[in-house]
Amino acid sequence: MSAPTASERPIARVRASARLRGDLRLPGDKSISHRALMLAALAAGESLIEGAGDGADVRSTAGIVAALGASVERLAGDGPTVRYGVSSPGADGLHEPSGTLDCGNSGTSLRLMSGVLAGLPLTATLDGDDSLRRRPVARIIEPLRSMGAALHARRSDSLPPLTVIGRTPLRAIDYATAVPSAQVKSAILLAGLRAEGRTTVREAVATRDHTERMLRARGVPVERADTPDGAVAWTVQGGVAVRAMTERVPGDVSAAAFWLVAGTIHPDAELVLHDVGVNPTRRAIIDILRSMGADIEERRHGDRSDDGVGEPLADLVVRSSALRAVDLGPADVAAAIDEIPILCLAATAATGTTVIRGAGELRHKESDRISGTAAGLRALGARIEIEGDDLHIQGGPALRGAETDSLDDHRLAMTFAIAGLIAAGETAIGRPGSAAVSYPGFFDDLERVRA
Ligand code: S3P
Repeated sequence: MSAPTASERPIARVRASARLRGDLRLPGDKSISHRALMLAALAAGESLIEGAGDGADVRSTAGIVAALGASVERLAGDGPTVRYGVSSPGADGLHEPSGTLDCGNSGTSLRLMSGVLAGLPLTATLDGDDSLRRRPVARIIEPLRSMGAALHARRSDSLPPLTVIGRTPLRAIDYATAVPSAQVKSAILLAGLRAEGRTTVREAVATRDHTERMLRARGVPVERADTPDGAVAWTVQGGVAVRAMTERVPGDVSAAAFWLVAGTIHPDAELVLHDVGVNPTRRAIIDILRSMGADIEERRHGDRSDDGVGEPLADLVVRSSALRAVDLGPADVAAAIDEIPILCLAATAATGTTVIRGAGELRHKESDRISGTAAGLRALGARIEIEGDDLHIQGGPALRGAETDSLDDHRLAMTFAIAGLIAAGETAIGRPGSAAVSYPGFFDDLERVRA
């Protein structure tokens, strides 16, 4: 039997590294990989998804798409990515699944698939692991019900499992989201494909726009209207068939974020990250780190316009930098929602006190990321105060190795492992296997950059 890899152990141990060097290829973007699989299920014909992420979350979506009757082939891809070939009868040919649809740890699978299922004439139940069963679903039940689907969930319709009884056609709605959420927006737009008329989603703060770009690339008209205060309204035309296509998924900027922070706060580092997606609605982590003084060079090499989706790409080069504290508000939190834990680590190395206001949504992720991030970084010697939904991180104290717990949350596991490259001595990370939810090769890449 071969020795367990770092992420299969109950505890991973990371020692401080004298220098960090390396060239990395990131996993395919998780958000885009999920959407590409779902849109391939809705489109009649053959879709090819190149450069897809191979984390457990994306595999959950692939399993769901297959359970609905599309044929899904997973093939080896470039570097850490995979290629999916999906052959689907199209939305009207999908069938009722024979069992529960298993979303595993993936909130994106659960929320976006609810929107897909709402417009299909079948009944299906979405469920997942213990973490997923604690994540709120009322936010999708409310709009999808008003479109005419029936949805039921545990605890007075607040928690998964979630049963969706779809209906064709749905009613178009005009809906303002209560919290900034690309998952809720996308669920409504996907349901809007199966509605009579035009469905509009209004968001006070712009969230990631991959669904919108990908629908347009597949022949579905999607309109955008902006207001001067930063609010955005998206409108999708119902009843237009989604076209099958070949799409290449960019490298995941949320995975790149770990190396951007490692390279910045480590005193002797230079890391090159290839083919990272730098979509304006996802790149906030790059811009926030730069505003703190990070030396991040961006070598643009255009859009992936060969497939018409137009996701901008760049190689990023990050070097050791002296950081200053930053003041972030709710719009920054929405823009960097998945990067706040690793940004907190960056703040521990900055001069001054970083304030992150209005981070309450972080309590509803794979774990309560406010208390989980604070607990792990405090164990390493960081000074972090939580006041309501705000975080205050006093930069300065050098971190020293200690025991941390990922709480089975991939982004916390990777944050504490990166901290281990900088903290004096050895850092233990409990439940490191969660990294494989979005970044199966993370601990291998960590060994690579310290070599
Ligand atoms: C995602 C949206 C975000 C993010 C998640 C992926 C997406 O969730 O945290 O990791 O792909 O749409 P919310 O929309 O709930 O903020």
